[in-house]
Amino acid sequence: MRVVLLGPPGVGKGTQGRRLALEHGWALISTGEMLREAVAQKTPLGTEAQRLMDAGQLVGDHVMIALVEDRSGRPDAAAGFVMDGYPRTVPQAIALEGILKQRGQTLDAAVSLAAPEDELVRRMSARRECPICKRAYNLVSWPPKDGRHCDDHPGVELIRRADDAPETVLRRLEVYARETAPLLEFYRGQCRLREVPGLGTVDEVYRSMTGALGL
Ligand code: AP5
Ligand code: MG
Repeated sequence: MRVVLLGPPGVGKGTQGRRLALEHGWALISTGEMLREAVAQKTPLGTEAQRLMDAGQLVGDHVMIALVEDRSGRPDAAAGFVMDGYPRTVPQAIALEGILKQRGQTLDAAVSLAAPEDELVRRMSARRECPICKRAYNLVSWPPKDGRHCDDHPGVELIRRADDAPETVLRRLEVYARETAPLLEFYRGQCRLREVPGLGTVDEVYRSMTGALGL
């Protein structure tokens, strides 16, 4: 199955996408993680992306489209993929259709996760990530066993994402409303949209999502 996950920052796309991909043997294509990796490696893409990400702005469509074309064509994505964080603009969605069409493929569904803004802000302010496996924890709702280190990487201290600073969070929410929310209409018009509540426990959201996908 080929699925894209839509939704505002902090709604749980990474959390749910990771589990969906793992349980079904599909590739997880997280553009945010790919960009953060490029930043950590100090590649030319990383240097350019860091400036935009730290300001809560989107990286340019051409760069993102090329990145996703390459990643989604790799062998591990042949059996299916879950995209987390792509598409983020209507041109990115149109480009994805073209990329899949060239390969004789189509997108099965676009899942939209939603939650109120005050909950998103709360989730992002308490988010901490493992720098090795990138798993997102939450100091309030989903803490690591010892409160500080990754459960799967003992001794590795969790870190806060640079773009989770309060002023950047607000900018990211604005950019989502302006640039990405129109994608809901785009996919509704194609009868591919599956709207799923992002409130509730991680397990409850996962069950709603898999139910909406008919899994
Ligand atoms: P990206 O990494 O995609 O960030 P985002 O969309 O802002 O989303 P987040 O990762 O912040 O949230 P999430 O929905 O994954 O939530 P999570 O599961 O972590 O993008 C970052 C930046 O990269 C962008 O701003 C942009 O600059 C650039 N970029 C990326 N893709 C791009 C593209 N295609 N085009 C252009 N630029 C691009 O959960 C959040 C927290 O809540 C965690 O602590 C988690 O433990 C907790 N949580 C999750 N579910 C629940 C629950 N049900 N109940 C309670 N807590 C929960
Ligand atoms: Mg994420």
